[in-house]
Amino acid sequence: MKISASFLSIKDNLEENIKRLDQTSIDYLHLDIMDGNFVENKTWSFRTIKKILKGTTKKKDVHLMVSDVKKYVKKYMKLKPEIITFHIEASNASFELIKMIKDKKIKVGISIKPNTSVDAIIDYLPYVDVILVMSVEPGRGGQDFIPSTVDKINILKKLRKDNNYNYLIEVDGGINDTTVKLVDVDIAVVGSFITNNNYQEQINKLK
Ligand code: DX5
Ligand code: ZN
Repeated sequence: MKISASFLSIKDNLEENIKRLDQTSIDYLHLDIMDGNFVENKTWSFRTIKKILKGTTKKKDVHLMVSDVKKYVKKYMKLKPEIITFHIEASNASFELIKMIKDKKIKVGISIKPNTSVDAIIDYLPYVDVILVMSVEPGRGGQDFIPSTVDKINILKKLRKDNNYNYLIEVDGGINDTTVKLVDVDIAVVGSFITNNNYQEQINKLK
């Protein structure tokens, strides 16, 4: 299981702390991008993101919690991330977007919120590289893991096996050294559990 670290809950010295995070054994830096519309909160501007990520070496895993997906995809492509994920619940989620991201040789992910079932993305499963299953309501860090997420992950695993699909399964929200044991996934996004304490020690507890 790979670890994608979210820095959403880092409140002070963001630039310096991201550099510290970059020096740990995490596999990806998870970028939580919020527009104040799809979710209530708004995170950093593209300009700020570029500045705070300067000099980092980890692969970038972009999680777009935005309504106008196309607009943000165009911007965030420029970071040359490993993965760009958008929400099926967003206003203009579409196959066109999948193509747009893939054409840039970036892995494309599609995400579902806790109350969205796997049925909502069934048509997309053959075409995407990552399915990001939200295990909390998107919008903020430090929330409790929603247990029904486990069933969704199992459905996605079965569908992958039965149909020979290739997507990776990623979980996001409320992951700590207890809840990580409940989820058999390819990538776990972990925010506050890592960043509220000694980074590397916390990461070691997850592996
Ligand atoms: C929630 C974000 C997550 C979250 C992870 O909207 O997508 O990435 O901040 O943080 P923790 O691990 O604290 O739930
Ligand atoms: Zn996220």
